[in-house]
Amino acid sequence: MKNILKQVTNIIHHDVLIIGSGAAGNSLALMLPNNLSIGIISKSDIHEGSTYYAQGGISAVFNDLDSIDNHIEDTLETGCGLCRKDVVRDIAKKSRNLIKWLQERGVEFSHTQTKSGNKSLDLGMEGGHSYPRIVHADDKTGKVIQESLIDNLSNTANINAYTHRVAIDLIIDANNTCVGCYIYNDQADKIEIHVANFLVLASGGANKAYLYTSNPDTSSGDGIAMAYRAGCNITNMEFMQFHPTCMYNQDAKFFLISEAMRGEGAKLLLPNGEQFMHKYDDRGVLAPRDIVARAIDNEMKKNGHEFVLLDISHMEKDFIIKRFPSIYNKCLEYGIDITKNKIPVVPATHYTCGGVEINKKGQTNIKNLYAIGEVAHSGLHGANRMASNSLLECLYFADVVSKDISLNSKNLKKIDINKIDQNKYMQHDELEKVLIKHCWKEIRTLMWNYVGIVRNNHRLSYADQRIKIMKKEIDAFFYTYKINKDIVELKNLVCVAELIIKSAISRKESRGLHYNIDYPETLSEPKDTILSKNQSSSLNISSL
Ligand code: FAD
Ligand code: SIN
Repeated sequence: MKNILKQVTNIIHHDVLIIGSGAAGNSLALMLPNNLSIGIISKSDIHEGSTYYAQGGISAVFNDLDSIDNHIEDTLETGCGLCRKDVVRDIAKKSRNLIKWLQERGVEFSHTQTKSGNKSLDLGMEGGHSYPRIVHADDKTGKVIQESLIDNLSNTANINAYTHRVAIDLIIDANNTCVGCYIYNDQADKIEIHVANFLVLASGGANKAYLYTSNPDTSSGDGIAMAYRAGCNITNMEFMQFHPTCMYNQDAKFFLISEAMRGEGAKLLLPNGEQFMHKYDDRGVLAPRDIVARAIDNEMKKNGHEFVLLDISHMEKDFIIKRFPSIYNKCLEYGIDITKNKIPVVPATHYTCGGVEINKKGQTNIKNLYAIGEVAHSGLHGANRMASNSLLECLYFADVVSKDISLNSKNLKKIDINKIDQNKYMQHDELEKVLIKHCWKEIRTLMWNYVGIVRNNHRLSYADQRIKIMKKEIDAFFYTYKINKDIVELKNLVCVAELIIKSAISRKESRGLHYNIDYPETLSEPKDTILSKNQSSSLNISSL
């Protein structure tokens, strides 16, 4: 092999290093004490990630008829027996304060006029919620939140954002303590070593493991894969959530049509105009997502349809345009006027309910390593996340972790860089891009066809065999060819795909988002699936 050079490295020190600049990472940076030096890493532009595309909103109890207990009950019911009740309770209780925190940072949510002429937050409705509870900014809640958080970040002297940097692997010392991360600088084509007293994974989900997803390209499961390689426990990866209604149009890259539209009265129809959701659940189109996505999947398979239809055209034109301006404009780009026409929709992967196992303080099983937001498994979502509980979880754990780091950061010691391998990644020849593209597509197609909404033992076993072979090949690329963004993401994608398959195989029942026709029953005792590099096990949640 020609052209082997020692990779040039920069070493950068931080008190706290946050991998990810979404709702979780950016909120944490702003909540941490300003005497700490904080680095935020993001692998694309600072705004890019799932947060920016969030539409529906954030669930919080503001309706006088509603209560914290209702929010808890709805979340537990949607989570199908696997939510951790204390975590659900703590988060639901904090929801109003977290909305207030965002408002204090300049986030402007949509309001409505009350009968007495006062302004109050406009509360939307989504699947699984028994009351209107969704605080939103029209249908672009994520964009409005990200823009405000990023505005606030730019006014801070202690926070440095490092964009177009791809975290490769965590650095763990001999005492099982995280001391930093190897990072690929995509613009300078260099490896950097970022050392930190505390490292927080806020790198989002793994939905790119599937061919069709509502997620942006950042969601390749990097944080989950890095944590797994470092020795963290990874919980419940079989619960990949499929959003029932993404626009059916390859060019639109599966643009999401918010559940809030069904909350406002949109109907789901077969191509012949027939409604079908009432056959599957009394709550109809507002049943939890697992039920609606499975119903659509079943109707499409049974009747050979390529899509079903979402119809809001019976509502007032002005209302539709005011309430859903982004969706209205996006659909128009594709020739669909939603005030007159029905929207062709299909389910697509949307949210990773499993992830890096954390306790109530956001800590992982590696010292000084935390995980927050979609990368983490906190126990809030159980076997199926209730709509609009995710942004809430990002904010809640940002708050909890900021307090824990603040408590533990009184006497920080400088990390000894002499104990870190500074020559870990060598520059070799480039791997041909076409090979990476091919593997990327093969993994995502395999996951879509064999580990989808409805599973069976035969398909899972085939996927397991295929992924093992691919993982071997891809791991070999990683150590043979020059590191770049694509190769890091590919290595992580195959790792999370394997974790999803292994978790799905080990669950011998159907529950929430995991439906296996060979085990249609739900077992009486709910158990988490916990994988770690050293052992795989299925634990009873009451023992955690
Ligand atoms: P993200 O916002 O995904 O951010 C991840 C960050 O990590 C990015 O900055 C990325 O660059 C960085 N990153 C990843 N890997 C690396 C790496 N290797 N190196 C460096 N940086 C890395 N939830 C709700 O509660 N309400 C909603 O209305 C809602 N609507 C949604 C609509 C859409 C279309 C989508 C896709 C999701 C929606 N969700 C919603 C889910 C919710 O948006 C996400 O779960 C949440 O935003 C995740 O935030 P996060 O900060 O954990 O991750
Ligand atoms: C949506 O607007 O439908 C997405 C809400 C969510 O994923 O929580």
